[in-house]
Amino acid sequence: MASVIIAGVGSYTPERVLTNHDLSKMVDTTDEWIVSRSGIRERHIAAENEACSDLAVKAAQAALADAQVQASEIDLLIIATASPDMPLPSTACIVQHKLGIPAHATCFDIAAACSGFLYALEIAYGQLLTNRYKRALIIGAEKLSSVTDWTDRTTCVLFGDAAGAAVLKKVDQPGIGIIGSDLGADGEFVDHLYIPAGGSRCPATAKSVDEHGHFIHMKGREVFKSAVRVMETVAREMMEQYKVTPDQISLVIPHQANIRIIEALAGNLEMPMDKFFVNLDRYGNTSSATIPLALDEARRSGRIKPGDLTLMVAFGAGLTYGAALVRW
Ligand code: ACO
Repeated sequence: MASVIIAGVGSYTPERVLTNHDLSKMVDTTDEWIVSRSGIRERHIAAENEACSDLAVKAAQAALADAQVQASEIDLLIIATASPDMPLPSTACIVQHKLGIPAHATCFDIAAACSGFLYALEIAYGQLLTNRYKRALIIGAEKLSSVTDWTDRTTCVLFGDAAGAAVLKKVDQPGIGIIGSDLGADGEFVDHLYIPAGGSRCPATAKSVDEHGHFIHMKGREVFKSAVRVMETVAREMMEQYKVTPDQISLVIPHQANIRIIEALAGNLEMPMDKFFVNLDRYGNTSSATIPLALDEARRSGRIKPGDLTLMVAFGAGLTYGAALVRW
């Protein structure tokens, strides 16, 4: 029986680091408040001339090198992003051109916010299994600093810029790679996390700019509660469906939004915190990039070894959520 494996992973974070101390000079906040409420200490911010596709290309080049796959061999490219270069065309087409992925490849973006990388993983997994495609490149890339209201202390302390990528391919070896994947969404909560302007509901006007309509708006407490609930549910369902017990999982890679969300998830799943990979202290919430960025760091630091079983789990605006089990 064939499997789909993650053949390579790569990530990129912009050079500039913005610390909590820096933020305390921009808005009425403190390092102590940000660390105690979120666990975040610093985040990376892209340069003015660096767009989402620039971050995506660097992460993709690292993932292709890791997988020892050429861009010319990619026939499916999916980019998960909430901060594309522009509304039209897709960032995937821009990245395709920059990387030299051939014209016959299928290239598109998906909008699933912070769950986007797991949405891309599920789509690529299914498509590779049908033999429709041979090698997929999936990327989570965000320049969230471009949709962050830098005068709003309730949101600007949380976000950062980054990209992470993975190359997926089918192999004739059962029992490794993606064991299972599950996604969901609950549109009841669309107004908990959204960017009100810039789409067809509220096109850009001088008024929409004045009202800060082009930035992320969030009901933090509500998002917090939903995040813990949906991540616990989807993680449990995943383990039940594939008859996996928590002790068989060597590492959980959760969406990196807030350390308190991860701690609550660990407590509810009755799993020790040392099984949860955490790097949000250094990057903040980079939306669709958090999981591939964490995956890349986990592999490079030796936290994932051949034979290990990892669980990735995410939530995001929508409210979207997802989980994936991977055997390395
Ligand atoms: N510095 C100082 N004080 C602050 C700050 C700040 N940066 N931000 C808010 N406060 C104040 C508030 O005004 C409030 O003051 P008040 O009591 O006088 O009204 C007080 O701190 C408490 O605010 P809360 O919002 O209740 O704080 P909470 O403990 O809920 O933490 C937080 C806020 C960190 C946002 C938390 O709710 C959270 O992490 N929620 C989930 C966020 C999340 O995961 N978002 C996902 C985004 S994903 C995407 O799609 C990009």
